Amino acid sequence: MGQHNYSFRPDPEFNDGVFKPSAPRPVDADMEKWSFGDNMALMRALIRNPIETTGILSRSQECVQGKLFNQEFFTVAGPDLIKFLFVQNHNALAMNHMRQRILRPLIRSGLVAAEGEQWKRIRHLLTPMFTPRHIRTFSEGMRATMEREIPNSFKPGDDIRFTRVMLDLTYQILSDALFSGEIDGNRAAQVKDFERVLMTAGRPDPMDVLRMPDFLPRPTKLQGIRALKRIWNRVGDAQKQRKARMDRGESVPTDFLTMLLEAGDDEHAELTPDEIQDQAVTFIGAGHETTSHGITWLTYLLSQDQSAREKVEAEVDALDIDSVPIDKWPEHLPWTMACFDEALRLYPPAPFVSRELKEDLPWKDRQFKAGDQVLLNLWALHRHYELWEDPDSFVPGRFVGENRKKINPFQYLPFGIGPRNCIGQRFAKQEAVIMAVLLFKNYRFEYIGNEPPWPRMRITLQAENSMPMRVLAR
Ligand code: HEM
Repeated sequence: MGQHNYSFRPDPEFNDGVFKPSAPRPVDADMEKWSFGDNMALMRALIRNPIETTGILSRSQECVQGKLFNQEFFTVAGPDLIKFLFVQNHNALAMNHMRQRILRPLIRSGLVAAEGEQWKRIRHLLTPMFTPRHIRTFSEGMRATMEREIPNSFKPGDDIRFTRVMLDLTYQILSDALFSGEIDGNRAAQVKDFERVLMTAGRPDPMDVLRMPDFLPRPTKLQGIRALKRIWNRVGDAQKQRKARMDRGESVPTDFLTMLLEAGDDEHAELTPDEIQDQAVTFIGAGHETTSHGITWLTYLLSQDQSAREKVEAEVDALDIDSVPIDKWPEHLPWTMACFDEALRLYPPAPFVSRELKEDLPWKDRQFKAGDQVLLNLWALHRHYELWEDPDSFVPGRFVGENRKKINPFQYLPFGIGPRNCIGQRFAKQEAVIMAVLLFKNYRFEYIGNEPPWPRMRITLQAENSMPMRVLAR
């Protein structure tokens, strides 16, 4: 092949009432025949924006083999193979080496990075916090946070960076659900610290890529580590104060912090203070950007598709939010929920789920080997040519009624799959529903960027230009 043009950005299209947003053209390549120049271009694109390296093969086959730094890896995007690896043989999978090297120093025992017996115990202790009953108890608090914060975030006529506003809002929602406001420091400083951690410490350092020993300092990470220490201190202080109140028998809020402090049973030792700190940091790290970007892409898609937006507005207008209990809202909003599902299909907020094989596994005429890297590429799976009709277009109707039943449960996985799937998915969906109702009942958002927004993966999948929007009153 000639060198793929990674910087080519096709225009969005609108044909016969169907909106097709701008997205990277898949790489048309047989890696075996690649020149040195092709490989260098791939490496640069991989560092700049990994989803731009997704190939036509990954979007049309169930498994594609590749090689990077002499390391075999497999991109999987076939429902049967995904089930085979992530459900039937999940014990043969470990977290991938590079991911752990980045995550472990940041979130230590946090559920996203924990492994083996520690992961099992912590997952068991955290699971009850995410049952429908508990999520219901959070929903009123989420609504109160949004009703308090949205009017302070923008007003009709404002031109805003939608991504920024959503990041602040989803941060505040999680922070309230975790600590009920009992955490020191102003919100702007807290959000900035989390961003610093993700943008610096949360990215691969060239020395990690080259597998240099851990004791050598990583200069790119220092800023992030300082921010992380500030976060640990704030969370540690909130925890100590809450524990002291509980020990004195005072009444305390039923938020995540109280639940974390009370977790533990006969067979599972309670969480240590460090483990609690790590889970709190993990919930914010895993839960605020993901949800925020999901809602941001939804709002963009609706800003471009008038007919889809009008149906959303009709649904939210017809919902009486003061008489229908929040957990029943989704039943009144089938189209709005379908639009959110479709936004997560086109723009999965956490697009890469990576693992390393611990043992050999035969699959059809293929032999996976211990040490092989497996990448579940949700961008490729959700836009797979064999699995979806018109895969690059915004068609919420695929998630409505009978159509939804035709979707294989292993072809749509925005929240991952298997025992390590997203523990926070109910929380995220609940939050998205309330946000959609409160935003679209009162406001309309007009996209005002000079260029179409470009999806860029920085751990999460965000709009490169922070999604400029004009706020209109409804
Ligand atoms: C739209 C929003 C969200 C999306 C798309 C999302 C996506 C994901 C995905 C794909 C995974 C699996 C990663 C893997 O297997 O390597 C995951 C795991 C996880 N998510 Fe989410 N997430 C969202 C919101 C949340 C929220 C709100 C929370 C917490 C309150 C959360 C907490 C977690 C945790 C703790 C894990 C690790 C689970 C484990 O390893 O046992 N997520 N998420």
